[in-house]
Amino acid sequence: MSAPTSVTAGRLELATPVVLASGCAGYGDEWLELVDLDALGAVVLKGVSREPWPGNAPPRLAEAPAGVINAVGLENVGLDVYVREKLPALDDLPCKVVANVVGKAAGEYRDVVAALDGEGRVDALELNVSCPNVKARGAAFCARAKGLRALVEDCRDETTKPLWVKLAPMVTDIIPVAKAALDGGADALTIANTVPAMAIDASARRPVLGNVYGGLSGPAIRPINLRLVHLVYKATGADIIASGGVDGWEAAVAYVLAGARAVQVGTALFDNPAAPAEIVAGLDEYIRREMFDGLSFLVGKLRGDRA
Ligand SMILES: Cc1cc2nc3c(=O)[nH]c(=O)nc-3n(C[C@H](O)[C@H](O)[C@H](O)COP(=O)(O)O)c2cc1C
Repeated sequence: MSAPTSVTAGRLELATPVVLASGCAGYGDEWLELVDLDALGAVVLKGVSREPWPGNAPPRLAEAPAGVINAVGLENVGLDVYVREKLPALDDLPCKVVANVVGKAAGEYRDVVAALDGEGRVDALELNVSCPNVKARGAAFCARAKGLRALVEDCRDETTKPLWVKLAPMVTDIIPVAKAALDGGADALTIANTVPAMAIDASARRPVLGNVYGGLSGPAIRPINLRLVHLVYKATGADIIASGGVDGWEAAVAYVLAGARAVQVGTALFDNPAAPAEIVAGLDEYIRREMFDGLSFLVGKLRGDRA
């Protein structure tokens, strides 16, 4: 019999439902020595683009109530170095590896996906579609359902690996966006990315971040992303991997009850690298105490749901 916390999300079998969120564990070289690897179903690597990106001017991180605001700007080494140096270093990693893909144009996403399709250490791909599309005057790829569907279709054509699409939380209506990604061939949706935010230093009368604006993460955004998971699960029944403020097993259970099959952990690692192990232990105990067959049984099983 499989372990009570093992799940399948977006065609990827995960030994546990805890996944390290993109950008919070580097290329698998940061944090992993501090984290109990047996607690992880997968690690999502830092986003990779076709060419290297320099990222934003510092400071790139600001504290916020119950979270942090980051403006890293998706700095990354680019596809060549990623394939040559970063992926081979992950050979001994016991969990699944998900490559997070970013781009400024649809063709850039497609080229990265095509290249990674041939990489044995990549078990699945996650498209970060919050990036600004230069051809749409900087609007995010997920801002328009039609464009998003075309982007996902293009990427789908290039890979047989599981394809996750990571949505942004700030869209007028997430349901058509989610449906567009699924129609385009996504196996699962990651819901959701950071919430646009800023911080101001009152004494200096300046923005805290070099980029002025950034993305808020941590428990502050959990209620927002929880609602989005619930809305999308009810409208589509899709496989969902939740992201946003997971810092303990209760938060993980809340997301699962809302409809997620797995959860990503990002900001919580910054002050508690033991969070993944604690979440898995807490889930295990919860499942045994409530005598459920396994975590999958709980997906979307919210009581008194009149929405
Ligand atoms: C420093 C930092 C860097 C991030 N980089 C990426 C990235 O490269 N690609 C991406 O899709 N999300 C990125 N994210 C978003 C996280 O993967 C996650 O979706 C978000 O932080 C919400 O989860 P959390 O509250 O558990 O951190 C980043 C977040 C942080 C804090």
